[in-house]
Amino acid sequence: MSERTLAIIKPDAVKKQAIGDIISQYEQAGLRPVAMRMLVMGKGIAEGFYAVHRARPFFDSLCTFMSSGPVVVLVLKGENAIKKNRELMGATDPAKADKGTIRAKHGTNIEYNAVHGSDSPETARVEIAYFFPEMSVVG
Ligand code: PPS
Repeated sequence: MSERTLAIIKPDAVKKQAIGDIISQYEQAGLRPVAMRMLVMGKGIAEGFYAVHRARPFFDSLCTFMSSGPVVVLVLKGENAIKKNRELMGATDPAKADKGTIRAKHGTNIEYNAVHGSDSPETARVEIAYFFPEMSVVG
């Protein structure tokens, strides 16, 4: 089943000049970018995006990090895109991520972990709408 997922290349990976490598990994896995933008999230935009984690101890630190520099936000489309992207990303903590995954290759620690990916169809729908009007998604 073809579906869409939201991916974010986080500020640490943008700083490391890993944008091209990460997008190449998406494409090689059959995840086709159908919308893409680069932006610096204001802190409030990051807080809105991560609202579900508001009660977590790392919430403020995560939002400060995510608004600390440019990010690349993409909609990826493909067969089982949500699950496929989560597998491609690897575990949240790069130290525990399988070899060959994006986080194993480009992540630094549980906060500076290079990429975000939606974790369910409902989350994907909400997250895509947070950054992209429907008419700007081309597939
Ligand atoms: S959970 O329980 O599965 O929802 O948590 P998880 O998916 O592992 O993490 C949710 C997001 O929070 C980030 N995270 C952290 N940031 C900073 N410090 C700590 N300790 C920490 N633990 C988790 C994690 O990178 C996830 O961010 P996204 O952007 O969703 O990948």
